[in-house]
Amino acid sequence: MTSTTRSPLIIGNWKMNASLGGSMVLLQALAHYKSSKACELAVCVPFPYLAQTQEVLAGSLVSWGAQDVSDQPQGAYTGEVSAAMLQDFACKWVLVGHSERRQRHAESDQLVADKAVRALACGITPVFCVGESDAEHEAGEAHDVVLRQLRPLLDLGADVVKQVVVAYEPVWAIGTGKSATPEQAQAVHAFIRECLKQSGAAEVRVLYGGSVNAANAKSLFAMPDIDGALVGGAALKAEEFLAIAAI
Ligand code: PGA
Repeated sequence: MTSTTRSPLIIGNWKMNASLGGSMVLLQALAHYKSSKACELAVCVPFPYLAQTQEVLAGSLVSWGAQDVSDQPQGAYTGEVSAAMLQDFACKWVLVGHSERRQRHAESDQLVADKAVRALACGITPVFCVGESDAEHEAGEAHDVVLRQLRPLLDLGADVVKQVVVAYEPVWAIGTGKSATPEQAQAVHAFIRECLKQSGAAEVRVLYGGSVNAANAKSLFAMPDIDGALVGGAALKAEEFLAIAAI
């Protein structure tokens, strides 16, 4: 995190975890967050907890968002949630293209970019997730994979690309307790930065995700092209999540 223009950002991804009661406890602990530096903190919660999240975090230094959004504006899309609905709950962020959705719901690269466009149209910042699988990692294909995933976004041009946040999450590091080393992550982040630069959006923030915790965050954040983190498991413990933000 050496850039002066790319302020640090840490986003918690609760995934399909917590309960109504449990999320209340977690949110109340986060609501007291006081930023000692210019680190932005946010949580992406399950859809049913958005109202509660808005109620508890409004007026705090922690912003919030959702974990997915429909690529369609409205209509006969059973089970989907529109960007306008997220806007109703003052969401600042939405994750698009998380690997768990790419895998389980066969989301294509183009669909992920379409979701990003839909979010932006409602004033919500998409957190555009990319990352290679274990097999692709072993085959040395990380750069090819992230470029393929980014391509439909980059094709939208600098004015659009400048408005997103990118999250690099190697699938093999997600929920495994086996984070990428700072050097491994930095190598891919530098590549992503180069792709963004060539698209006229060098200052887009690129977060790292995959088994980030309070113990390994410092060395990851020391890398010049890592602008923060997308945190899964460790975001479910208020103390640990706040400790990551304090680094
Ligand atoms: P993890 O998840 O921190 O539990 O590895 C990160 C994510 O999937 O966003």
